[in-house]
Amino acid sequence: MRSMRSARTARPLGQAHGIQLHGACARPRSHNNRREVLTRATASPQTVEDRAQDKKGFLEAFTGGGVEGIDPSPQVVWGQNILPSEIAELKAGSSAGADGLPRVEPSEGVVFGDLEAERDDLSAKREEIVELLKENGAVHFTGYKLMQDAAGYHDFYDILGLDPCLDPIHSVAARPVSSAEHKIYEAVNKPSRSNYIVGMHNEMVGTQAPRYAGFVCFKPADEGGEFWTVGGNDFFHELSTPLLEKMQRKKVIFSVVEFPMGFLKNLDEGVRENVAKPLIKSLMGFAVGFKVDFDVFFRFVEEGYDGDMALQGYASPQPAVIRDPVSNLPVVFCNLHSHSKFLRDDRQKKLGALKKTTGASQANKTDCSFGDDEPFTDEELLEVDRAVMKVVKFIDMKKGDVVLLDNYRTMHGRGTFKGSRHNAVAWFSGFVKGRK
Ligand SMILES: [Fe+2]
Repeated sequence: MRSMRSARTARPLGQAHGIQLHGACARPRSHNNRREVLTRATASPQTVEDRAQDKKGFLEAFTGGGVEGIDPSPQVVWGQNILPSEIAELKAGSSAGADGLPRVEPSEGVVFGDLEAERDDLSAKREEIVELLKENGAVHFTGYKLMQDAAGYHDFYDILGLDPCLDPIHSVAARPVSSAEHKIYEAVNKPSRSNYIVGMHNEMVGTQAPRYAGFVCFKPADEGGEFWTVGGNDFFHELSTPLLEKMQRKKVIFSVVEFPMGFLKNLDEGVRENVAKPLIKSLMGFAVGFKVDFDVFFRFVEEGYDGDMALQGYASPQPAVIRDPVSNLPVVFCNLHSHSKFLRDDRQKKLGALKKTTGASQANKTDCSFGDDEPFTDEELLEVDRAVMKVVKFIDMKKGDVVLLDNYRTMHGRGTFKGSRHNAVAWFSGFVKGRK
């Protein structure tokens, strides 16, 4: 068991995740544009109630995600260790600009809505698409009717030869399912999280990470909600070298789960400290350890996500920079932007308070620190945000649009939105054998 962290550790945690979209093409924007996005979403957050599938209960979160019959998410491929002393040299040895986001549209003559023709078109372009993904780390599909529903989206990923896998947090899944039949999960569509920015992250929990992710828009939000991507190599080149070196030297740890424990405050202090806390900690360690295949250690903090006492589970320290297994490019593979409580709070200050969330979302709160428990300074976290917002691409996704990305090479997130939306994701362990 690790040592307890004090002071800064007591800074609460939050959550990260999701997707969302609208518009046609990705365009890098400057930091100023972030303000525009934030401002646009500031006015009167939606007060629509969460839908039934968004309200999984606290216990249901431990019963699995509802998708069955496919393999678990693959283990993370950490690759050969990159030493802190190599960071500067790696930066000098290449330049930014490798990460792209090409668009793929139906070929000339393919009539929109002629599903057979659309399928044939995708099939004919398959090799080209695989190559585009390999070169750029992400591809944006637009103009197809096929992917406007779950069955068509299933056809799409079958045609490309992608092999679907379970959510990396399947066993403790708080993620609702969009279509169990077609192995598709919901993005973060909850109305209660509509004025919440999902920070940039690779889909990775503990030891599991899908190789590829395909985000599909079944219904755009009424307003706002771009899908965001950040090229991991772009980010590597943009982020401060001393900070990258420090992160690589000390490694980074993330809390993977948080359980509200405010009720403990009602107990006598002696009982709370000597009986309740140790008991809960061991029980939770057992329960979570039973469901996930990676080490989780727990610590109590005075102020969790909701400003009340909480029990947080943390995963093992990980490096911040790895080599993308496909391109071998150095990429930042580290979810600070989404998992930092400080950055979430900083964004939320500009957006207004969130609605109180319900159900399993209460367990999905995160924060981070260096691997030796040293907290990140505000300046370091603001540098992370600066670098992200410098290289982020905002993608307006229309109904039926898909952003297919290499989960090691390209981070994802989403902006705020208004109204109801239905965006979804399928995870892939790779290409079906024999088709690569
Ligand atoms: Fe995600």
